[in-house]
Amino acid sequence: MITVFGSINVDYVFQVGSIPAPGETLLATDLALLPGGKGGNQALAAARAGASVNMVGAVGKDGRGDIALAGLRAAGVNTDAVAASDKPTGTASICVDAQGENSIVVYAGANESVSHSQLDAAMLGADAILMLQMEVPLAQMSAAIKAARAAGATIVWNLAPMQAVALEALQGVDYLMVNAIELDQLGQGLGLAATDTLHAKVTRLAELTHCSVVVTLGAEGSLGVHEGGVINLPALPVAPVDTVGAGDAFAGAFAAALDAGQPFEQAMRWGNVAGALACLKTGAQSSLPRRQDIEEHLAKLL
Ligand code: RIB
Repeated sequence: MITVFGSINVDYVFQVGSIPAPGETLLATDLALLPGGKGGNQALAAARAGASVNMVGAVGKDGRGDIALAGLRAAGVNTDAVAASDKPTGTASICVDAQGENSIVVYAGANESVSHSQLDAAMLGADAILMLQMEVPLAQMSAAIKAARAAGATIVWNLAPMQAVALEALQGVDYLMVNAIELDQLGQGLGLAATDTLHAKVTRLAELTHCSVVVTLGAEGSLGVHEGGVINLPALPVAPVDTVGAGDAFAGAFAAALDAGQPFEQAMRWGNVAGALACLKTGAQSSLPRRQDIEEHLAKLL
């Protein structure tokens, strides 16, 4: 069983020819209002990949919470521990350009109300996985991690979007997940040399934190360090339409694979396949693959 302790948003996705530069006004060619939030996306990705999933988070009493939760409910994610906040539902403004690249601004809103007290002891047993991102308050995530650690649960922390986090907080976790930009940002905070190679940075991060580390690299695949070994896996080649949520697809499928008893390297493979397949349609949740899709594409990873 996987419990996601994280954000739930509605995403306003603007289709644009290019990402606007500072001071530039652009006319969008399309607009979609879609469910999102890194927490919600990862919960759905894990559920689609076959895991039994609880979502712990908060939405506003503004009607948009139902939009944000619709996909999770349809996929059988347990949303009983999603609180109703007096703040507005978390909102993301997303521009997607002709190449499928994106830029995102998030207003946390109700996500600021999420509390570790919403976690139930039954969600944190020794065979449970707790997944977190960086879009709910850090103090609440730290308390959730502490509770999960005490209960013997496995903890997967996707440090997105990056913010300052103490080394001691990272040391309480089993799996850390970042993209290349977040790795650089985290490395600066931890005093890693900016000139180090990617490989050197990931290895040092794993040594410092005592965690297994995964770095997602988009079209370059992913790099992982686990029990002292380094694993470099290629991406599944696709022609991306929209890369929003690709990291969430990776994280959710990775956790679902661990939950299904798969070893670390195979979990990275599930993540690579899910991350690629998630780029084939507009929206973070619309193209999250199901377990069968992931399994069918695994053999295509070189
Ligand atoms: O990772 C993509 C997500 O980031 C979007 O769904 C948006 O809501 C932001 O949280």
